[in-house]
Amino acid sequence: MQNITYSDKALELQAIAKEIAEKHVRPHAARLDKAQEYNYEAAKACSEAGLFGTWIPEEYGGNGTGVLALALIVEELAKADSGFGVAFAVNALGSFPILVGGTEEQKKHWLPMVASGEKMVAFCLSEKFAGSDAGGLAVRAYEDGDDYIICGEKKWTTNGGVADIYTVFAVTDPESRSRRLSSIIVEKGTPGFTIGKVEDKMGIRTVPVVETRFDNVRVPKSNLIGGRPGLGFKNAMETLDYARPGVAAQAVGAAQGALDYALAYSARRRQFGKPINSFQMVQKMLSDMAMKTEAARCLVHSVASMVDNGRAAEAGKKAAMAKCFATDTAMEVATDAVQVFGGYGFMEDYPVAKFFRDAKILQIYEGTNEIQRMVVARALIKETANLGHLNAFIPKEEQSSFSEEPAKTS
Ligand code: CAA
Repeated sequence: MQNITYSDKALELQAIAKEIAEKHVRPHAARLDKAQEYNYEAAKACSEAGLFGTWIPEEYGGNGTGVLALALIVEELAKADSGFGVAFAVNALGSFPILVGGTEEQKKHWLPMVASGEKMVAFCLSEKFAGSDAGGLAVRAYEDGDDYIICGEKKWTTNGGVADIYTVFAVTDPESRSRRLSSIIVEKGTPGFTIGKVEDKMGIRTVPVVETRFDNVRVPKSNLIGGRPGLGFKNAMETLDYARPGVAAQAVGAAQGALDYALAYSARRRQFGKPINSFQMVQKMLSDMAMKTEAARCLVHSVASMVDNGRAAEAGKKAAMAKCFATDTAMEVATDAVQVFGGYGFMEDYPVAKFFRDAKILQIYEGTNEIQRMVVARALIKETANLGHLNAFIPKEEQSSFSEEPAKTS
């Protein structure tokens, strides 16, 4: 259990995000989606309003409001455009490796430029042949004097090209199992670092997803997160525990955004002489959409509050639950929103087709929902050790009195 407290500052930032979403995000969402373009205007507004400092403590230049405030902001932005929701949230994902695992010097150097919005961030973990198996990366970082030299290619770098700072996970000790990886900061413009294929996507088309290429990219050892090699896998896992409430909040925003359109349309659309929201089957759909969205929101706020209250180490299971439940909800709600719009819902002229396309990736990135269920199940099985006392109330299965061998005839 975790108390959820909405601070005045968090609510203030939420109100600012809502204003930015209505002024700079929603009006451009369809056009930018079609053109597959990033919303620089909205990013500038977020930066001027200080929103990028939300998850960064005051001593590192942020406003220190925390992960619950981040969730409130991301929900508002994603309600207007899920792509812009992740374009914002990925800056948290990309900077959490420094925040949770960086040295004091690294935090003081890098985080203030993220907090001010001066530098955008991206997170480079996935590769062509390593997605769910985050330990199975191939990108290498070789020690060379005071530097590391990074070689290889990353896949699905969200915000790639827009971002200035990249937290890159690479193999530094191929012989080791648990200390195989390290996380290293690479800046845009470093020789040998280039953007490869820009993906043409089904949804979230307002944020770039690209291949990032590292052709003998030389970075100083001071960019090694945590100051020691071998900390990368743990750093990635802890980062994901912090970041999953953010992507789950994006899903809550996507669900609420689709629901809002379904509500507005079902009140306006008339069939059989009545608005369609007067029909019980439509009402059932609307109420199920609303109940699931609200349940997802509560779960997200609960885990975000755990992280803010210094309980990140025990939040992994709940972060996975929130990510999985909220993103499955977003997909279901977006599907039902299309149903409420009927034939019009299938048309790109109407807004819910985009919500439907945008929702699918939520169940895939930041750990597929199959991986989230696996994380939850592993935690549950560990916790089962505390349930031994229940065996006293579960009758033992009786031994069969029948022989399992065939009876001898002679
Ligand atoms: N916190 C701290 N340590 C952790 C941890 C956590 N949450 N989870 C695992 N570890 C530690 C374990 O304790 C273990 O330590 P020891 O070796 O010292 O015992 C070590 O890490 C290895 O753990 P596992 O044996 O559990 O590792 P695994 O190989 O079975 O993998 C996994 C676990 C959960 C499947 C992991 O690989 C995973 O999370 N995969 C999904 C990756 C993912 O989410 N990718 C998304 C990329 S980001 C993205 O998509 C964002 C975007 O574009 C917007």
